[in-house]
Amino acid sequence: MEKDLNGAMQSMSINSSSGSAIVNGCCRGTECIVSGKLSCHSQQQQFDDCSSNLSNSQNNGHCVACKCGGSTQSADETDNVRVGTFGNSEVGGVANVTSSFSYKSTSAQQLQQLQQQQQQAQPQTPLPPHANASIAEKRKMVHELCQQLILTDEQIRELNYRILHEIKRGLNKDTHAKADVKCFTTYVQDLPNGNERGKFLALDLGGTNFRVLLIHLKEEHDFQMESRIYAIPQHIMIGTGQQLFDHIAECLASFMSEHNVYKERLPLGFTFSFPLQQLGLTRGVLSTWTKGFNCSGVVGEDVVQLLKDAIARRGDVQIEICAILNDTTGTLMSCAWKNHNCKIGLIVGTGSNACYVERVEECELFEGADNGKSHMLINTEWGALGNNGMLNFLRTEFDDEIDRHSINPGRQLFEKMISGMYMGELVRLVIVKLVKAGILFKGQDSDVLMTRGQFFTKYVSEIEADEPGNFTNCRMVLDELGLNDATDEDCANVRYVCECVSKRAAHLVSCGIATLINKMDEKHLTVGVDGSVYRFHPKFHSLMVEKITELIKPDISFDLMLSEDGSGRGAALVAAVACREDNIKTK
Ligand code: BGC
Repeated sequence: MEKDLNGAMQSMSINSSSGSAIVNGCCRGTECIVSGKLSCHSQQQQFDDCSSNLSNSQNNGHCVACKCGGSTQSADETDNVRVGTFGNSEVGGVANVTSSFSYKSTSAQQLQQLQQQQQQAQPQTPLPPHANASIAEKRKMVHELCQQLILTDEQIRELNYRILHEIKRGLNKDTHAKADVKCFTTYVQDLPNGNERGKFLALDLGGTNFRVLLIHLKEEHDFQMESRIYAIPQHIMIGTGQQLFDHIAECLASFMSEHNVYKERLPLGFTFSFPLQQLGLTRGVLSTWTKGFNCSGVVGEDVVQLLKDAIARRGDVQIEICAILNDTTGTLMSCAWKNHNCKIGLIVGTGSNACYVERVEECELFEGADNGKSHMLINTEWGALGNNGMLNFLRTEFDDEIDRHSINPGRQLFEKMISGMYMGELVRLVIVKLVKAGILFKGQDSDVLMTRGQFFTKYVSEIEADEPGNFTNCRMVLDELGLNDATDEDCANVRYVCECVSKRAAHLVSCGIATLINKMDEKHLTVGVDGSVYRFHPKFHSLMVEKITELIKPDISFDLMLSEDGSGRGAALVAAVACREDNIKTK
């Protein structure tokens, strides 16, 4: 018997584990961090404590005392004349002046006088405002600044409501055009039933890399897969659509030749992980680019046709495009292949998005003939939430800055608060603000730290993977950033910033998932998950389990299942399901 999306369910238990020990219970401080007013003491923060062995950072951090050179800038014009009598010394600090002093007739006493005069005459570069604050004060200020990144229960409740509202607007024919969360129909109405067999090609475009795969579905749950990753150079990501699709077709042809299937006409599933208004399983019009792509001439076009045209321009390979799908769909399908209880697909990687199983009568945009199937996979494209101001009550100065400097300002605002493309940069912006205020690294920055995009998202995972009180990874990261003089307290504060940013992302995603779970109202369900942030962040999974459990109806249980290569195998499965004999008739 055919299983549709409402197919057999297996009973699953909640894979519950407690969250991390980070406590964010501090009251919501309202004072500006830079003003130095500390109003936020309601609870003692739990913190990965490292206060032993800390060097005293009370000194004012300038001149000879600390040799940091932070405030010993070149003398101004007037003093240069006098300094000139010391020869060619570069005035990088008083210590330098002293060591390069060679003017024989100047006595030590004269030198001292000159130094005093210099200090009196020159305006000193002011120290960053909080460079002299105590360790405890600095810690409080870090917590206070990060307070805006911590979501209150009330905010989460409000977000739940808004997500649900937008999903409903996306599904509704009359409000769809204006909705943030588009809820695109995927035309996928069947889960794999285990009988899918054969050889399939898959293309996976959606991040910085592009993959071609050859998948052989064999016995139930047995498959063989070969794949190759091809880089998408930056100039192609923002070039013309024709260049992009020619590049894809070229990679496909070279892969087929390497794998000796050049002459075969194989069915192909195309995972295209961008917002697509689907008009059928093999027709999809691009709504907008996301994740750093911006190829001209593609928005508003059917990307399947663009791929077919590029293949035809080459004229050397033959393929049959059986399906175009989102990576969330692929993720759901690949998990559902093993677990029929899987009804939600989630990606937390370069971008973020979720798809879920919806009742057909709710899918007002579905214009296909009534085929007797009761359910449809919906690609929410939740990354766009906030495009109409819905997230303004949560967004911070850092989110604004990320958005202003992005390739698509004003768009994908939910995604920009969550996904791997932005997480590292968010942390960097908070750190830079703390450095400028003198709270971190005695106010000393580095060129790398000050460069956009140079705090990679993988650093967040690495830093948080350190055991509490240990800063091995954190120091390695700071070294890479050219920040070699960090104290343990600096490291603890950097870690705290990472925790706040990643925890917020996990809570936002959880809020979205809980909204879907409550809407679907199934007693047990599995969420198939993929994406680098979910995969590699040491606490993302447990943070999500904890938060979702808190937010869903008490009689529902769920678990999160890591998808094994949803974009690849999922694409083959969608193609396979589409090719299944029972579906050919209804296509
Ligand atoms: C895209 C989605 C995709 C998600 C995860 C977003 O930027 O719009 O289609 O599913 O990234 O890759």
